[in-house]
Amino acid sequence: MAFYKRTRMKDAGFRRVLPLVLVVLSAVIVLIFLLRNRTIYDATFSSNYEVRDIPALDGGVDPVVMDGNFKPKLPKKNELSISLEQRNRQPPRNTDLFPNLAKDHIKIVLYVHNRPQYLQVVVESLSNVEGIGETLLIVSHDGYFAEMDKIVQSIRFCQVKQIFAPYSPHLFPDSFPGVSPGDCHDKDDPVEKKCKGHADQYGNHRSPKIVSLKHHWWWMMNTVWDGLEETKGLSGHILFIEEDHFIYPNAYRNIQLLAVLKPQKCAECYAANLAPSDVNSKGEGWQSLIAEKMGNIGYTFNKTVWRKIHAKAKEFCSFDDYNWDITMWATVYPSFGTPVYTLRGPRRSAAHFGKCGLHQGQGKSNPCIDSGKVGFDIEAIDRIPNIKPNWTVHVFEKQSGYQAGFKGWGGWGDERDRDLCLSFAYMFHNMEASSV
Ligand SMILES: *[C@@H]1O[C@H](CO)[C@@H](O)[C@H](O)[C@H]1NC(C)=O
Ligand SMILES: *[C@@H]1O[C@H](CO)[C@@H](O)[C@H](O)[C@H]1NC(C)=O
Repeated sequence: MAFYKRTRMKDAGFRRVLPLVLVVLSAVIVLIFLLRNRTIYDATFSSNYEVRDIPALDGGVDPVVMDGNFKPKLPKKNELSISLEQRNRQPPRNTDLFPNLAKDHIKIVLYVHNRPQYLQVVVESLSNVEGIGETLLIVSHDGYFAEMDKIVQSIRFCQVKQIFAPYSPHLFPDSFPGVSPGDCHDKDDPVEKKCKGHADQYGNHRSPKIVSLKHHWWWMMNTVWDGLEETKGLSGHILFIEEDHFIYPNAYRNIQLLAVLKPQKCAECYAANLAPSDVNSKGEGWQSLIAEKMGNIGYTFNKTVWRKIHAKAKEFCSFDDYNWDITMWATVYPSFGTPVYTLRGPRRSAAHFGKCGLHQGQGKSNPCIDSGKVGFDIEAIDRIPNIKPNWTVHVFEKQSGYQAGFKGWGGWGDERDRDLCLSFAYMFHNMEASSV
């Protein structure tokens, strides 16, 4: 038989049909891929973005919704971004110490930029979290900073996976998403100055440092939900924390409880939070759960909710505000049509300690915190799960803050940023299909 096959392979006739066979084969592979990912991609979609009605939250994970007319395009990679992408594919570390993840674990994503003195505090706080060894910690880096990398590599208290945003502006010193030659600056008039760029609603041109954060958040969300081996098939919750969130010892057990209680106690809740949406509040100290507007400290939601957010990629990516959270409050959540609540306990299990903004405080002469000395009084009640399943839910309605109608703080007017953002939304979906 083997001999027969080999002679057949030499057959010139076969060689002529080989390209056709390969084309059919690759088409079949692509088809299998699309079906497996439940991706809806139809080149005949109208220019109207809302291509499908999104079914209500009903327990199943919604299909991916995309705009068939948008042609995703990622910047040309450089050596550094290629090497970072290779690291993104490496399996988690510490599997020798923690070979198994608990059945009911909630994965934690810690997203970081470049404030090592802050990260050190967060990592130290995480090392004291009850149950942390049961889960996987994914650290998402906004590009590459050696000191940040080193801190994360020193973690030994749970499985850790690092991912690095390969299109972070600072990785591209002389091309987009960094600054390209010929780009407009500040309030330049593109016609007069013959420069490239679209100003925001306040007349300002893009600043790579400022757009970095929103790009990273969106890249990270798309990657952790749709682009990692480690989260493939996951429909449950992921907890998101940031490089300036101090995490209390009971945070993990509390968020596990809240994730279980959410469907029973609060049908309108999309998420659960470790802290009040008012970042300065320690909580009310009541004997009840609280439902309120989504906060940005220690939030968790599941893949159904992610699909709803992802379906609003166009809204997210075209809103003229460089803050991801204000973008969510002012456009994405309001577009869901019903109020978006989150469930939390009456006492915070995470706290924001950042005194300085992301774009300042890097100078050694002016650190925003004195390294490691963050004054949080951890009481006995913060060391044990302190949420009771028999509590009722107190709902805060009509809270103030950013909401539909807010026009945004600007900083996100350049079409190139909007297109890159939308490309991130599609990079794990139809990019494969469109490259056939
Ligand atoms: C995800 O969370 C939403 C909101 O709490 C809920 O309605 C939905 O049933 C959940 N989906 C899954 C797959 O658990
Ligand atoms: C809730 O359960 C605790 C015991 O865990 C009990 O002491 C308390 O009285 C209960 N509260 C209500 C409102 O039922």
